[in-house]
Amino acid sequence: MNPDETFGYDVDPDEAVSDPIGLLRSWLARCDGSVTPLMTLSTIDEDGYPDSRHVLLSRCDAEGRIAFHTDARSRKAAQLRAIPRASVAVVWPGLARQLVVTGDVGEEDPSDQTDAYGRRPRYLQLLAWLNDEDTAGAVLAQRREAWASFDAGRAQLAAPPTWLGRLLTPRRIVFWRGEADAPSNRVLCTRTDAGWSVVRRPG
Ligand SMILES: Cc1cc2nc3c(=O)[nH]c(=O)nc-3n(C[C@H](O)[C@H](O)[C@H](O)COP(=O)(O)O)c2cc1C
Repeated sequence: MNPDETFGYDVDPDEAVSDPIGLLRSWLARCDGSVTPLMTLSTIDEDGYPDSRHVLLSRCDAEGRIAFHTDARSRKAAQLRAIPRASVAVVWPGLARQLVVTGDVGEEDPSDQTDAYGRRPRYLQLLAWLNDEDTAGAVLAQRREAWASFDAGRAQLAAPPTWLGRLLTPRRIVFWRGEADAPSNRVLCTRTDAGWSVVRRPG
């Protein structure tokens, strides 16, 4: 696969990045073409340590805010209530690209949360309903039974009350582009009062 065709609006190794949000949206829109991108989401736990897991990247809006969805009872949800800051990383190893976005996390509009649930495949819609401690603790046969009976009784599903959408507003964006025959490019974009500060860094 040719990285330039995949990424379209790309990091130019010789030019400053003038529109970090446009570039972010371009990378995320073109990253795979078929599946929802997966990202590593890091939050800060109650002891001050980073905590990471993978979540689906639901959407990146015109302001570059990255939406993800989770369960309101999850650890990450509690961590974000206490410290609403997070970092996400997406990697495309075959294309030698990496993206890291760090910033503040806020609530997604309720209507967007509903839309995101509606776009999830049936399996993930069911999972959002059957994602509780009791089901997790049951043996597999019981979990299968709970799943099948919940599924069978409902044609269409609405989001459970525990469905939660969050938006990460970028404060720092790192675009990393590898080169086959030269050192990698790493462009660090930091939001300032005047716009964005953009510097190229080693590594
Ligand atoms: C491929 C994949 C996609 C996942 N997508 C999500 C997701 O979009 N939202 C979510 O809450 N958990 C998702 N998970 C599960 C999380 O990685 C994690 O195990 C779970 O949310 C509990 O995390 P926490 O205890 O840190 O809150 C996904 C896991 C995998 C392997």
